[in-house]
Amino acid sequence: MAFLNDNYLKLRAGYLFPEIARRVTAFCSANPDAAKRMIRCGIGDVTEPLPEAVRNAMHKAVDEMGVRDSFRGYGPEQGYEFLRNAIAQNDYRAHGIEVADDEIFVSDGSKCDCGNILDILGDKNVIAVMDPVYPVYVDTNVMAGHTGPANEAGAYAGLKYLPCNEANDFVADVPSERADIVYLCFPNNPTGSVATRAQLTAWVEYALKNDTILLYDAAYEAYIHDPEIPHSIYEIPGARECAIEFRSFSKNGGFTGTRCAFTVVPKSLKACTASGESHPLHPLWNRRMTTKFNGVSYIVQRGAEALYSAEGKSEVSALISHYMGNAAILRQAVSQAELKVWGGVNAPYIWVKTPSGTSSWEMFDRMLHEANVVITPGSGFGSAGEGYFRISAFNSRANVEEVARRILALR
Ligand code: MLT
Repeated sequence: MAFLNDNYLKLRAGYLFPEIARRVTAFCSANPDAAKRMIRCGIGDVTEPLPEAVRNAMHKAVDEMGVRDSFRGYGPEQGYEFLRNAIAQNDYRAHGIEVADDEIFVSDGSKCDCGNILDILGDKNVIAVMDPVYPVYVDTNVMAGHTGPANEAGAYAGLKYLPCNEANDFVADVPSERADIVYLCFPNNPTGSVATRAQLTAWVEYALKNDTILLYDAAYEAYIHDPEIPHSIYEIPGARECAIEFRSFSKNGGFTGTRCAFTVVPKSLKACTASGESHPLHPLWNRRMTTKFNGVSYIVQRGAEALYSAEGKSEVSALISHYMGNAAILRQAVSQAELKVWGGVNAPYIWVKTPSGTSSWEMFDRMLHEANVVITPGSGFGSAGEGYFRISAFNSRANVEEVARRILALR
């Protein structure tokens, strides 16, 4: 009999969102009337239609594919030059940040890239994650065999958890001991916290001092409203020597179903070989992508490029305003219900403290059974998330207004 990857057997229960979906489906089948009024504010999945600029560009690309002279087969695995250039120019160089077109790698999602990046990193690294944490960072390390088993609270042996709590406003402090790899996510999923320039500078200084690589997930950067908050880790001097940045079109352009994202691997970023020599990571990621990936479809990349057109930018800005308007309504309702709330100002997630004595999953059940609203239990993001829950602002305005009414009625 062939051997399986035993590391998968260390994973606790299902991945958080399928597990929530399973519980919601079970409740809905047993309660068909409640099912009809169910509103889903669990997974952060966009609800508003794709921007017109994107749809037009994609229609045009489909037509090109229907003509022999403009038909395209395999594209470049790293992404078409037109999109790599649009990204580097608009997201970085236009803001005074040095990023070359060929340091951008276009992919089918940040979730995939955050997991796949482990392919080019060694197995002996000390890995640190924030707690609460986006579960993908943890689970992919478990799958790769970088941890021991989980304890009762769900923490895996071998991983360093950096506590994020009310005292540090849900932004992890730089630890006193060193780590080889640190995952940072700002604006944060799940807490909605953001890191200031000073906080990110402290992280970059820590990374440069300790030869640490920062894996910086900026999937929600478009939601930053405060002009003082950095959108990219590369706004911090020295970050090109210590950070990889992940970005996505899912939450700004509404591409959760369309699939397109990118990762920035600076050519100046190096890591160490088993024999102790320093080696750039860029050629390794290039090799990984050209070997295991055949690129995002031409049609989708043309759609993503259109997000950088004048019409595209204005449509993205309208989408962000819509979701952040939702966030404001949810924040207000939760505050009126006399619950403590964070996030929802520079991020589409509202992070709420459960009423005293109520666990995260008890709150999930209460919201499901009594308000027929799906939220995400904070403990699903790690032990430091116990006692909190997350509400996603990705929804229609009508649904969010109804959720606000139901939260107040529950009170
Ligand atoms: C979330 O709800 O945390 C996100 O939608 C998950 C994801 O982007 O993969």
